[in-house]
Amino acid sequence: MNRLDLYTSVHKGLRSALFATAERIARTNFADSAAAREATISLGFLLDLLDEHAHHEDEHIQPVYQRHNSELALTLAADHARVEGLGRELRSLAVRLESATEIERVSLGRRIHERMNQFLAEHLQHMAREEGCGQRLLWAHLDDTQLGALHGAILASIPPPRLSQWLGLILPAASLPECVEIVGGLVAAVPGDAADMLLAPARAAMGEARWNEVTQALVVGAKA
Ligand SMILES: [Fe+2]
Repeated sequence: MNRLDLYTSVHKGLRSALFATAERIARTNFADSAAAREATISLGFLLDLLDEHAHHEDEHIQPVYQRHNSELALTLAADHARVEGLGRELRSLAVRLESATEIERVSLGRRIHERMNQFLAEHLQHMAREEGCGQRLLWAHLDDTQLGALHGAILASIPPPRLSQWLGLILPAASLPECVEIVGGLVAAVPGDAADMLLAPARAAMGEARWNEVTQALVVGAKA
């Protein structure tokens, strides 16, 4: 039986952004102030997404863990504190880059690269814990109606322009069946033009060939 899964799709998008940002930082010549600035803009966007995601979890999912497994709740809260601390450190290194000399930028760039890799590693472990222990606990204590209500509350808290950015992150990282489920659900819930606007960044990021695969699969599914 297929249960509602709150983590996998969004974590696929976040992992993809984490890897892309780590690779971008690794490629950056921090002696070049324009390149350093571009890298820190990408880093800032990633950190904002991760903070927002952690806030959604703290607000909507953490109370369930606290009710049913206080030990897991503590472990996941400690994970969040650790990655948020690393995130704050990365932000402060990025701020220092703005007024740094070329030599200082190179040194700061080396530290950003090192901290970014630790940040990535911590996030991979944390997300695996949520997708494993966390999701199993949610399935054990909540039915899909309750899980759907949690998911709906998280989605309702995100303004449409931001939701569009999230879809632009999640859909290009998702499998075809996941894309079909997400796009199909959205198209069914939102009037045509608004759905098109919400999906525009994802469609651009996916490319027309992949987008056509998704829409064709939706048509086939609708006829079945
Ligand atoms: Fe988390």
